[in-house]
Amino acid sequence: MTGTGHDAYAEIVVEHLGKSFQRAVPAVNDIGLTVTSDSAIGIVGESGSGKSTLVRMMCGLLSPSTGTVSYNGLGLHQMLSTRGGRRDFRREVQYVAQDTTSSFDPRRTLRDAVRLPAMRLLGMEGVAADARVDETLRSLELDPSLADRYPSEVSGGQRQRFSIARALVVKPRILLCDEVVSALDVSVQGAILNMLRSYCETEHCGLVFVSHGLPATAFIARDMLVMNNGVVIEQGTTDEIVERPRDPYTIELLDAYRGIESVDELAVAAAS
Ligand SMILES: Nc1ncnc2c1ncn2[C@@H]1O[C@H](COP(=O)(O)OP(=O)(O)OP(=O)(O)O)[C@@H](O)[C@H]1O
Ligand SMILES: [Mg+2]
Repeated sequence: MTGTGHDAYAEIVVEHLGKSFQRAVPAVNDIGLTVTSDSAIGIVGESGSGKSTLVRMMCGLLSPSTGTVSYNGLGLHQMLSTRGGRRDFRREVQYVAQDTTSSFDPRRTLRDAVRLPAMRLLGMEGVAADARVDETLRSLELDPSLADRYPSEVSGGQRQRFSIARALVVKPRILLCDEVVSALDVSVQGAILNMLRSYCETEHCGLVFVSHGLPATAFIARDMLVMNNGVVIEQGTTDEIVERPRDPYTIELLDAYRGIESVDELAVAAAS
């Protein structure tokens, strides 16, 4: 770690969190969750179950209707109300959105996109910023020469890795990933999952991995939360949930994947 004050333990605490849009059923309803810099938590559930709404509230992109989110004991709402608080939070908690096409500025090269948070959030400039970008790209097995291209000039899998690089360049304490591999083919998924897992382990970065794909989540997460209709219906270690699911919805979710692709298949694909 470089002296950015990043070595400390970090913790996001979510209590009674809820979000209602203009519909009778809340998108997220009374969820409690603690994520630390040691966590590797998977959030699974079918489309519309409230996963994105939950993580977007956890990183302050969406304000809750009920309940609270705090970061290291401070209310997130309060923290984000000051410039310094916002910078501290963004430096330590990063979010990777699913849609990489719209999350990149088409007029900036990928290098510029990845360098920007290093400059804005860490105050890095010139050679130091470039060195940090290259180091991050290499840790994700991205050839730094690709970074001189524009977002539309690389493959979907490469662009997804750049979006992860843009989050990891600041060495966050907690990384929130929303469906980062769902749109990619299985071999690319495996490679990204392996890198993400080893990065988080070596850098002691907590991970929240949101996906409707159960095998990918089981591969990367030690603990899992199963959501349905805005509520958590099952929570436990990944082994417990995969091997001894209790809720009929979880069993159904697992059955949908049996025989199609397994965690082992992903691992094999990742290694090849
Ligand atoms: N900005 C919004 N305005 C109104 N309704 C919304 C908004 N965002 C989400 N919703 C609704 O909230 C519910 C939960 O949506 P959310 O995006 O959190 O689900 P998800 O589990 O992430 O689904 P997916 O797997 O498809 O990404 C859905 O019914 C969705 O239509
Ligand atoms: Mg979503």
